[in-house]
Amino acid sequence: MKHTLPLAALAAAVASLSFADEAAPAAEAVAPAPGTIRMITEATFPPYEFRQGKEVVGIDVEICKAVAKELGKTLAVEDVEFDSVIPSLIAGKAELAAAGITVTEDRKMKVDFSHPYVRTGIVFIFAKDKPFDAEKAEEAKGKRVGVQNGTTSADYVREKLGQEPEMFDSPASAFAAMKAGKVDVVIADIDPAKAVIKGEPDYDISELLTVEEYAIAIKKGQPELLAVLNKVIDDLDASGKLDEIKDEWTAKAEAAAAAEEAAKPAEEAKAACACADCKDESCDKAACGCAK
Ligand code: ARG
Repeated sequence: MKHTLPLAALAAAVASLSFADEAAPAAEAVAPAPGTIRMITEATFPPYEFRQGKEVVGIDVEICKAVAKELGKTLAVEDVEFDSVIPSLIAGKAELAAAGITVTEDRKMKVDFSHPYVRTGIVFIFAKDKPFDAEKAEEAKGKRVGVQNGTTSADYVREKLGQEPEMFDSPASAFAAMKAGKVDVVIADIDPAKAVIKGEPDYDISELLTVEEYAIAIKKGQPELLAVLNKVIDDLDASGKLDEIKDEWTAKAEAAAAAEEAAKPAEEAKAACACADCKDESCDKAACGCAK
């Protein structure tokens, strides 16, 4: 009899523990706001997805907006690391994953893919004085190869070059590491690679190393949603609207990059201004915009 109370208390504690355990994943998979469908992406991938101010824009966003419209919903966009995009989709944090996602056999085991909407591939990005050729890709063996985390470029380095890639959180940061001498060459999808070398006369890209197709991913077992996605993509394609979207957002991404480039000297000048007060002896008066 003496044990009754502690045992009951223990049982209650165990019950509440296991309840908390079961509740945890459900709490993660929050339902979308009423009337909303969520797209999950990684927005350092122009022209497919990039940031314009706070907003995520690009080709993938336009396609998902068309899907939302077909469903009579509005689109909400969430931006995460690329290697979290598919796990987050599976965990129920979004209904659509659109991030220039290449259809691969591995991914097909985890998610369902729409009809493809782009045919593309990956390329080397290299310094012109240290060129890399798609025909002689094995010359990259033993070199430090930068890629974005979780991408088919990372798979390529492991499978075709037989080594571990250097991981970065975006194609642009892998490129910045190459400029800083930390990697010898970068591999990335051709369209963001083109965006990265824009305004960089000392760098170039190779021919394609692979042929890949992008599609929208959804959680498995939703034939109705898949049919809607396929209808929207097929209609956009047949009407010529898909090409229009691609051209429009390629131009917009280029304009955004050019504007960023133009803002650089001002940013660098600000960075060169290291003094708190123009009266300081050490203050670079020109860089800090101090009155003469
Ligand atoms: N197409 C490549 C892949 O699926 C790279 C995609 C990266 N996308 C992004 N939004 N960062 O692995």
